[in-house]
Amino acid sequence: MGRLENRVAIVTGAGQGIGQGIARCFAKEGARVVVAEIDKAAGSATTDELQAQGASALFIHTDVGNKASVTRMVESSLKEYGRVDVLVNNAQGLTGLARLEHKTDDQFARSLGTGLYGTLWAMQAVYPVMRAQGGGRIINLASLNGVNAHKYSVDYNAAKEAIRALSRTAAAEWGRHNIQVNVICPAAATPAAVAFNQANPELAARMLELIPLGRLGDPEQDIAPVALFLASDDGRYVTGNTLHADGGGHINGVPWDPGLPEEGDG
Ligand SMILES: NC(=O)c1ccc[n+]([C@@H]2O[C@H](COP(=O)([O-])OP(=O)(O)OC[C@H]3O[C@@H](n4cnc5c(N)ncnc54)[C@H](O)[C@@H]3O)[C@@H](O)[C@H]2O)c1
Repeated sequence: MGRLENRVAIVTGAGQGIGQGIARCFAKEGARVVVAEIDKAAGSATTDELQAQGASALFIHTDVGNKASVTRMVESSLKEYGRVDVLVNNAQGLTGLARLEHKTDDQFARSLGTGLYGTLWAMQAVYPVMRAQGGGRIINLASLNGVNAHKYSVDYNAAKEAIRALSRTAAAEWGRHNIQVNVICPAAATPAAVAFNQANPELAARMLELIPLGRLGDPEQDIAPVALFLASDDGRYVTGNTLHADGGGHINGVPWDPGLPEEGDG
């Protein structure tokens, strides 16, 4: 018997990286998994893989930066499975590095639209469902970038810290309905992180030195089990928290100096 047997979990951005790791882990634990992903090929591939392993999985083409799409994601999940027990808001649009004074409204709109608003819309859409069911679990992804004010990603940082404020407030307001809301701040060798580290090898080496466990996490083996804890009965008394699944990197603050983007960048 899996720890999420028959529970229905929506995972956004499950086509690769941490979302995919969480989808795989949840499926192995018996969950019925909704793969909500903007990249059709990646979303279908993850869904096919889960089904091939005997899991129940459904791909829903989703853009978390679009409210109608997020609403449809929850409606289609309900149509297929009749309930939603776990929501993982993992997808986040990226905009690249630029000095704060050059960040554009479009970049802020993308970061906040996919991060803060996508998370908010999905939470609002599952709220009545979880409330009627007698409870549910919401897991949102934030970042040390925001916690430690890393340079040149202010739009991303602002979105991620807003997600943490949103999560704590939802935990406070929805606890009486047995809806628990927590945040994971990860450090994982995902395609996005690997690409960034390859483009910034010196920074990547310095960051690694300051991670006490000495390595980046694996999305499925190291990050997903933390999400599993929060989604399963084991996490039933935990809400309003930020869990750092980062090999201890947050203790040392992980210095962040990716090199000054050119004047005029962004
Ligand atoms: N990897 C890390 O070390 C790290 C560190 C801090 C925070 N995070 C956070 O963890 C989460 C996952 O990161 P990752 O490294 O696995 O990312 P990733 O870029 O490797 O994967 C993200 C997935 O989300 C999908 N996606 C992007 N925009 C979308 C949209 N608008 N709608 C639906 N799907 C969309 C992408 O197609 C992709 O499959 C993100 O919220 C990220 O900010 C990651």
